[in-house]
Amino acid sequence: MKRVLSGIQPTSDSFHLGNYLGAVKQWVELQDGHDAFYCIVDLHALTVETDPALLRKRTLASAAQLLALGISPEKSTLFVQSQVPQHNQLGWIMECMTGFGEASRMTQFKDKSSKAGADSARVGLFTYPMLQAADILLYQAHYVPVGEDQRQHIELTRDLAGRFNSRYGNTFQLPEAYILKTAAKINDIQEPTAKMSKSSGAVAGVIEIMDTPEANLKKIKSAMTDAGREVKYDVAEKPGISNLLTIHSALSGKSIADLENEFEGKGYGDFKSAVAEVVVEYLRPIRAKAVELLEDEEHLLDILHQGSEKARSVAQQTIDATYKNLGVVL
Ligand code: TYM
Repeated sequence: MKRVLSGIQPTSDSFHLGNYLGAVKQWVELQDGHDAFYCIVDLHALTVETDPALLRKRTLASAAQLLALGISPEKSTLFVQSQVPQHNQLGWIMECMTGFGEASRMTQFKDKSSKAGADSARVGLFTYPMLQAADILLYQAHYVPVGEDQRQHIELTRDLAGRFNSRYGNTFQLPEAYILKTAAKINDIQEPTAKMSKSSGAVAGVIEIMDTPEANLKKIKSAMTDAGREVKYDVAEKPGISNLLTIHSALSGKSIADLENEFEGKGYGDFKSAVAEVVVEYLRPIRAKAVELLEDEEHLLDILHQGSEKARSVAQQTIDATYKNLGVVL
C-alpha cells in the first residue's frame, strides 16, 4: 500500500473550511486503500509565540475535529508531532542539506517574517520547511494531501530527498503533492481575493468548523459578493461568487455548471442562503461530534498515544537508515 502523510498546525481553536476542503477531506478519502499517517504538528506551531494552556487545548481540539471530520484511528495513524522525537532528529539533518538562499526563497517564510518584522520573526520560522520535509520523509510518504499554499514546501522536500539520495545512497521516497484542482485554495468570504486563514485578524471572513450554526449562517449571508447579479463562476470578475460556488460544489457534490443553471435568474441573496444552508447542515453534526469527543480527554489521549507509538516505530527505521548512510557510528 502506498503511504500518505500530512500535517496540520494546532494554531487556533477551530479549523476552517479551507483546511477541510483543501486538505482534510482528501485525508479522509485517502485513508481507504493507503497507509495513512496524519500528524498534529505542534512543534511547527511554536514558530510563533504560544500560550501553554492554549497549545494544549488546541492540540486536543485538533484531534477531536480530525476524528469528527472522519479520520478513523482504525484506518489511519493519528499522532502528535512532539511525541515522535525522530522529527527533530531528521529535521536537523534536513537543515544541514538546505542552502541558506534556498530557504530564504520560501514564500511562506517571506510573507510571515515580513509581517512579524525582523526582530520578532523566529529562526524556527526560517527552518520550518526543513522540519516539514522531515515530517514527510520519515514515513517514506508517496503522497502528501495539502492545499495549494503548501506546494513549494513539498517541492523543497522532493529536492532535499533527491539531494540526499544522490549524495548518500537511496534513503528516501520522493513524495508527490496531492493537490485538488478545485478546492486547493478557499478564499476569505469577506475578502475573496485572499486565502481563508487561521491567522486572519478578521474572523467574519473565516468559516470555522467549531463555530455555532447560527454564527456561520450569519457570516455566509453577509459574505462579500461582486458587481452584477448573475451567479457565474468567473474568478477574475466575480471572486466572491466563484469562491461560494466552489464551497457549495465541494460540500454538495453538485458541479459548478449545475449550480450556475440552478441559480440562473435568481439573485445573489437566494444563492447565499443556499450556500449557508449547505455549509451549516454539513458542519452541524461534525461540530456536535467534536464537542462530544472533547468531553472525554482520556479517550482522545489514548488514540494519540497509540498513534504516536506506531509513528515512532516507523520513523525510527528511517532514522536508522539515514544515520547509517551518513556514516554516523551506530
Ligand atoms: P496549515 O495548518 O496551515 O493548514 C493545514 C492544511 O490546510 C490547507 N489550507 C487550505 N487549503 C485550501 N484553502 C485554504 N484557504 C487553506 N488554508 C489552509 C493547507 O494547505 C494544509 O494542507 N505547513 C503545514 C503543516 C505541515 C505539513 C507537514 C503539511 C507541517 N508538516 C507535512 C503536510 C506535510 C501548514 O502550515 O498547514
